[in-house]
Amino acid sequence: MSGSAVGKLTKARAENELKRLRAEMARADEAYHVKDAPEITDAEYDALKRRLEAIEAHFPELAEARPVAPAPVGAFAKVTHGKPMLSLDNAFDKDDVERFFQSVRNFFVRPEDVKRVERETIALIAEPKIDGLSCSLTYENGVLVRAATRGDGAVGEDVTVNVKTIAEVPKKLKGKAPDHIEIRGEVYMTKPEFLKLNETLEAEFLALPPEKQTKNRRRQFANPRNAAAGSVRQLDPEITRSRPLRFFAYAWGATTEEPKSQWEFYSRLRAWGFQVNALADRVNGIDAALTRHTAIAEQRAKLAYDIDGVVYKIDSVDLQDRLGFVGRTPRWALAHKFPAEQAQTLLESIEVQVGRTGALTPVAYLKPVNVGGVLVARATLHNEDEIQRKDVRAGDTVVIQRAGDVIPQVVSVVLDKRPKHAKPFKFPETCPECGSAAVRPEGEAIRRCTGGLVCPAQAVERLRHFVTRSAFDIEGLGEKSIVEFFESNLVRTPADLFRLKAGDLEGREGWKEKSIQNLLGAISARRKIGLDRFIYALGIRQIGDATAKLLAKHYGTLGDWRRAMEAASDPESEAYANLISIDQIGPSVAEDLIAFFAEDHNREALDALAKVVQVEPFVAPSAAGSPIADKTVVFTGTLEKMTRNEAKARAEALGAKVAGSVSKKTDYVVVGSDAGSKADKARELGVRTLTEDEWLALIGG
Ligand code: IVH
Repeated sequence: MSGSAVGKLTKARAENELKRLRAEMARADEAYHVKDAPEITDAEYDALKRRLEAIEAHFPELAEARPVAPAPVGAFAKVTHGKPMLSLDNAFDKDDVERFFQSVRNFFVRPEDVKRVERETIALIAEPKIDGLSCSLTYENGVLVRAATRGDGAVGEDVTVNVKTIAEVPKKLKGKAPDHIEIRGEVYMTKPEFLKLNETLEAEFLALPPEKQTKNRRRQFANPRNAAAGSVRQLDPEITRSRPLRFFAYAWGATTEEPKSQWEFYSRLRAWGFQVNALADRVNGIDAALTRHTAIAEQRAKLAYDIDGVVYKIDSVDLQDRLGFVGRTPRWALAHKFPAEQAQTLLESIEVQVGRTGALTPVAYLKPVNVGGVLVARATLHNEDEIQRKDVRAGDTVVIQRAGDVIPQVVSVVLDKRPKHAKPFKFPETCPECGSAAVRPEGEAIRRCTGGLVCPAQAVERLRHFVTRSAFDIEGLGEKSIVEFFESNLVRTPADLFRLKAGDLEGREGWKEKSIQNLLGAISARRKIGLDRFIYALGIRQIGDATAKLLAKHYGTLGDWRRAMEAASDPESEAYANLISIDQIGPSVAEDLIAFFAEDHNREALDALAKVVQVEPFVAPSAAGSPIADKTVVFTGTLEKMTRNEAKARAEALGAKVAGSVSKKTDYVVVGSDAGSKADKARELGVRTLTEDEWLALIGG
C-alpha cells in the first residue's frame, strides 16, 4: 500500500491509486459501521486515510469530498432501549382532550382511584411539545455512558460520541444520582440558530474549490427539526460539535429509582444539571390544562424554538404505572396539537419564477406578516391548478400558513375582502425569463420552459449538466465558476465554453496559471465528442444517458438525428412513427424531444455548438460479427416466441436498427401472423421478408 513518494506520482497514477484507496476505505467503513465486523485495524485505516489525504493535497483537482450527513442507514450501531420509547396519542381539539380523560376516568372503579382522576381535580403537567429529535441518555452511577436515537421505539442508533458534544447534555450528573437511569428528552435547534446554520452551510459550499462543488451537492436544511436530526446523525462528531444543538429533558426510561411524580422528577432533572422547559407547569383539572394550552399557544410565535403542541401528563407516577400503555402510546399522556401557524395578509402580486430545471412556479408576494415568529413576505402557490382551485388573485387578502417548513403556503382567500377590480390570474404560456414556449404535458401539474439551452434561469444548471461526467466530462469547472462566468457574460451558452481563452481567466480570483491551463486543456480535449454524450449533454427532459445512447445508436449521426427530430414534429410523419418505434421511447419522451427542437433558441444553440465541436457518429459497441449489425429491421404482425419489445431489444443488442415503417432502406421485414400492409409494402419494394423462425435462425436462436 505504501506506494511511491507522492511527489513522483503522475496524475494518471495518482488517480488510479485514489480510486483504489477510496474503494478500500469504503469497504472498511462498511465492515466497521454496518456489518459490525471490522476487517482492518484502526492503524491500517489511518494509514489509508493519510495516504489518500497526501495524494489529494498534491493533486487538489482529484480531491473528492468525503460524504457528510445524513449518515447512510446502518452506519450507527444498534442499541436496545431498557424500556421502549413510546410515542404520544394526539388530540386536535377540546373534544379529543375530553374523550381522552374520560377513558382515563373509565379505567378505574375503586372510588379512591376515581377520585384522583376526576375531570375537575386531576393533577396534570402541561408542557410544550418540542419539535426536535428524541433521544435516550443512559447514566451509570451518574456518568453518561450511552446516547441513542428513538429508532423504532424498541431499538435505536448509538449516537453517544455525537451527543457528548452537546453542551446542554450533562456528561456527569450533579449531586446524588441513581445507579442506573435512562433520561429521555428532545435534541433541538433554535429558530435563529437554524437560520444562521443554513447561511453558514451556503457560504461554505460556495467557498469550496470548483472541482469539489461539482461533486458535492448544496445542503441546507428545511426546518430546525431536520437540522437537529441531520446534525446528530453525522459520521464525524466534530461536525455535530459545530452545530448549535440543545436539549430539553422530560421523561425517564429504565431506572433503579423511580420518582413519585412527574413534577418531582423535573426538580431532580434540574438538580442533576438538565434544562427542563420553563413553561412546564402543574395544574389541577382539565379546564386548567386547556387554559395552559391557550397560554402556551399565545407564546408560541415568540419562543426561540419550534413547538407543535402541549403535552399533558398525569402527575402521579403510581397512576402512570397502573394506566400503562396501549400499543405504543401511554394511557397517561396526550399531545394536544396546535393548528398550523396562520396569519392573514395582503397578496400584492403573483410572480412566476423559473426554477433551475425549467419548472414554472407561481409565487405570492405578500405584505410582510409575522407567522409563528418568522417574518413572511413570500409564499408558494405550488402550480397553475392550485391557483385556479383557490382562485387566488392579486389584491386578495389571503390566509398564510407555516407548517413546520420554512416555505409558507397560501391556504385560502378571504373572499369578503376581495376588491372589485381583482382579476383572475392568467398563467403564462411562455417563459417569463427567456420567452420560449412553456409547455405542460397532459396529466402533469407543472408547466416547463422549453428554452433549456438559452434560458438564463436554467443556464447555470444546464452548463453544470453539460460538463458532468456522462456529458462533456470537463473537470475543474464547479458551480461557483459557472455562476461567475455566467454573470460576467463570459459563458452564457455551452458553445461559449469552447471560446474561452487564458486571457479571460487571468486575474480572476482562484484562477492561477496551472488551473487555467488544466481547464483549457480539459475543454480542448472535448472538441471531439461521441453523439451519445452530445445528446445527453443537451439536458433535454427525460433524456438520460441510456436514452441518449439509444437515440445515438438509432440515428447514427448528429445530422440524421436532428433532421429526424424536426420531421417528427408532425405526428403523422414516418419520422414520428420511427421515433416511437425505438424500444423504450414512447410518446412522452418523443414529446419532450420535439418540444426541444421546436424552439428556435435551442436550434440556434445547437448550430453554435456544432461550429465549435465535432460530433462523431455513434459507434455501436462490439456488435462486430453479428449477422444483423447495421441492418435495418422492421417487425410486423404478431410474433409467437417473444414479445415485440423483446424482439426489438435483441435486434438492437446485435447492432441492428429497428424501424417502425418499411422503406427502401429496410433490410429485413420479420412477418408474424396477421401481418398487414407492411408485409405487402416489403414485397412491393423487394425487401427481404422473414418468418419468425427464419429470423431466429438468422440471429442464432
Ligand atoms: S413525553 C411516554 N414530552 O413527542 C411519553 N414527549 O409523539 C414520552 N416530545 O417521541 C414522551 N416534546 O420525541 C414528551 N415535552 C415532551 C415532548 C415530547 C416532544 C416528542 C417525543 C416523542 C413524541 C411523541
